[in-house]
Amino acid sequence: MKGDKKVLTVLNELLADELTAISQYMVHSEMCDNWGYEKLHKAIEGQAVDEMHHAEWLIQRILFLEGQPVVSKLNPIHIGKDVLQIIGTDQDAELAAVKAYNAAIRLGHEVDDQATVELLTRILAMEEGHVDWAETQRDQIAQMGLPSYLSNQAKPVSG
Ligand SMILES: [Fe+2]
Ligand SMILES: [Fe+2]
Repeated sequence: MKGDKKVLTVLNELLADELTAISQYMVHSEMCDNWGYEKLHKAIEGQAVDEMHHAEWLIQRILFLEGQPVVSKLNPIHIGKDVLQIIGTDQDAELAAVKAYNAAIRLGHEVDDQATVELLTRILAMEEGHVDWAETQRDQIAQMGLPSYLSNQAKPVSG
């Protein structure tokens, strides 16, 4: 089924955002693992997997609309130097994603492509969940202080 040209362009822009997020989060997740922050490692790894599903769903939709998925384009990647920066840069990416999905949903309505709207709305709800996760981490850091927060993220010492 032939899709609207503008919609296909926007779907490819969103795909580039998702592929960028996957790379950024994989590095952040492994940095946390390297520092022994097991819970943070798992949480950020889980977000990278969510973004991979988003990329898959966007590719499926682009192909269905007879477009060409572009997987060779990445946006600038922002790697944090410490846990606070990691959470902050990922939160920035998520806030940008919420904006981009809302704009894309508006376009979907304009060209009357409700199935694309439905897909983008499903992804948007997950991105809002990612923003919420980052907000929760920052609240906890503000309330309990960074050292206590970080000791909660570490793997329990066994033995
Ligand atoms: Fe995503
Ligand atoms: Fe996300």
